[in-house]
Amino acid sequence: MNIAILSRNPSLYSTASLVRAGRRKQHYVRVLDHMQCDISIETGKPQVFYQGQLIKNIDIIIPRIGSSATSYGASVIRQFESMGVTSTLSAEPLLRARDKLSCLQLLAAEGLGVPKSLVSNNYFSINEMLDRIGDLPAIIKLINGTHGLGVILAESKSNAESIMEAFYKAKQKIMLQEYIEEAKGADIRVFIVGDEIVGVMKRQAKEGEFRSNLHRGASSSVVSLSGLEAEIALKATKILGLNIAGVDMLQSERGPLILEVNASPGLEGIETTTGNDIAGKIIDFATKQKNNPWK
Ligand SMILES: Nc1ncnc2c1ncn2[C@@H]1O[C@H](COP(=O)(O)OP(=O)(O)O)[C@@H](O)[C@H]1O
Ligand SMILES: [Mg+2]
Repeated sequence: MNIAILSRNPSLYSTASLVRAGRRKQHYVRVLDHMQCDISIETGKPQVFYQGQLIKNIDIIIPRIGSSATSYGASVIRQFESMGVTSTLSAEPLLRARDKLSCLQLLAAEGLGVPKSLVSNNYFSINEMLDRIGDLPAIIKLINGTHGLGVILAESKSNAESIMEAFYKAKQKIMLQEYIEEAKGADIRVFIVGDEIVGVMKRQAKEGEFRSNLHRGASSSVVSLSGLEAEIALKATKILGLNIAGVDMLQSERGPLILEVNASPGLEGIETTTGNDIAGKIIDFATKQKNNPWK
């Protein structure tokens, strides 16, 4: 098949791994930078141009959209889909998952556990929010943040207040979230492809850090999931409408709590930690999806 990986950079681990896996399975694979895809909207004649050339004959796209390109990336995905190209990720689920607020709202509405999270459009509500969240420390996080950037632990009320004021002043959307202390700086990343859990790892923040992102120097190890954790991770992926997802959860005293569902989860950490060929699973899933007449 003719597969295009949408990615800004062919040398990124995840992109290179997908290209290798696709070629190993005898597919024709190329990398297209979604930011260089030009869209032509015309009734009955949707088109994408890449560096001046009309794109034709692509069977499948596998989008790898970074957080700085979410909106345009979603438009490019939608355009390919309207051309009849199969995509492992649709535009709406990407937008839903990228927004931590909508993601948590949808999961909580379906009864899944999430940390208590408060959002307000009003600068004047900061004090009330801090009263409502209860005991500090609490977490303040950017709604569109990623890689642990913009996730802050506020130890005291005055501390939290000044951080929140600064974000409101800078017109950044934030949420105030209950801090799950008993997770002890660890979280569980569950990697899902289709209906299958293809890799699980525990990430432990480095000494003196509570954020367990590998980008923040955390270490990772293989763990097994409880039946409940597996069920919750699969359900969260379905609720968001994703096929490929990295579900992050915290192990709390009241059970698993989902922090976020990543729509373009990185492959490096999970492949090197588990030794599983996750890129190969993604290629197999994508080609099966293309051949499924009900899709
Ligand atoms: N409410 C919380 N309680 C405890 N730890 C948290 C909480 N929220 C985030 N963290 C830690 O910070 C990390 C990054 O937070 P997350 O919401 O996943 O943002 P990002 O999208 O930047 O990864 C998590 O993996 C977790 O280790
Ligand atoms: Mg995260």
